This record gives sequence, C-alpha cells and structure tokens, in this order.
Amino acid sequence: MSKAPSVPEGLGFFPGYLDRREQERLVETIRSVVASAPLYTPEMPRTGKPMSVRMTNCGALGWVTDRDGGYRYQKTHPRTGAPWPPIPERLLGIWRDVSGDEQLPEACLVNFYDDDARMGLHQDKDEQNLVAPVVSISLGDACLFRIGGTERKDPTKSFRLESGDIVVLGGASRLRFHGVDRIYPSTSTLLKNGGRINLTLRRVGLNT
Ligand code: SIN
Ligand code: MN
Repeated sequence: MSKAPSVPEGLGFFPGYLDRREQERLVETIRSVVASAPLYTPEMPRTGKPMSVRMTNCGALGWVTDRDGGYRYQKTHPRTGAPWPPIPERLLGIWRDVSGDEQLPEACLVNFYDDDARMGLHQDKDEQNLVAPVVSISLGDACLFRIGGTERKDPTKSFRLESGDIVVLGGASRLRFHGVDRIYPSTSTLLKNGGRINLTLRRVGLNT
C-alpha cells in the first residue's frame, strides 16, 4: 500500500494493519485490561495539571506521571496499588510482527482520548533502552497525528491515523517528537461510546 504523501520518510507506518475483526478482538482484550487496571487521569510533572488523555498500562512496568514524581515507569497502578496486568498475547504477536526486535516489550501504555483530548508534542525517552522501537496502535476514532524531528524546533508534519493503523518509531525515528493535535469524533464505529484508544508497546530496560 502506498504511503500518504504527508507521512515523513523513514517512519514505520502500516495503514490498515488490523482488519475490523482484529480490531474488535483487541478492544475486547483491552476491556479486560481496563477491568483490572482502571483508566485514570494522569498529572503533568511539577504543575499537577491534569492531562486530557486518560491512561492505564499492562506489562511488568507501566508509564505514569504525577506532580511530585514526574514521568517514570513503575510496577504498580498509581490508584489501586496493584501490579499491572500482563501484556496480552495478541499484542505481543503484533510486536513480533512489526518491531523487528528480538526481545519482548515490558510495557504497554493504554491511552484513551475522548472527543476533546489531545497530546502535546513530546519525545518518548523515559526508557533506558532508546534503541528498541516503540510500536503504536490506533483503535476507534481517527486523529491528527503530528511528527517532527529529534529537536523540538524541527519542522513537523501532520497526518491522519485511522483505526487499525500502526506506527513504529524505530531506528532514526525513535526519538522524533510526536503528538496528537485532535480527535475526529464519530469517524469510527469500533468503540460503542466513541473516542480513540492508542496502545504503545515499549521496551524499557536495557535487557530483559
Ligand atoms: C503517545 O505518544 O503516547 C501516544 C501517541 C498516540 O496517541 O498516537
Ligand atoms: Mn509518545
């Protein structure tokens, strides 16, 4: 499949990677993750300002942020104190297919965007391992995804991510700035109540 002209060179982009049935199965899987590790509203470091995206995780480690502790990985859910549920096999299969990495991810961040949620431009660099790729899966409503270079001032490009699309930030693209400008409400029927789910699989430690 040819890439949209606005997708920057060197970015791993797999449009329509998951068909509708696979997307539905994945949503069921994520529902069971959320049943044991509920979505919560994270806070920005220092200011404590709530993020518009709600989050949870699965895996040995989960990415969290709050006013006092800032961005970090930890083994337990910040609200329930329970260990995160394991990464479902279905997601590990996707990682094996698209990451090109020998080892498995320890973390899967689950982001839920309602109609008004967005995510500012940032780099994924809280991992010790900055070589292994980050695999990002989109489900539900479409979004406008923005990606730049490895410096904040670098020019950016925006393109639309649809349900079932996968983006891989790997190689020279691993540390590119990226974010979500907006959600396009009611563009997918996958989630009964609308919204967008994004799953990012990451390797955190240097070795597992
Ligand atoms: C993220 O960078 O954590 C999320 C990206 C996305 O929602 O597509
Ligand atoms: Mn990110």
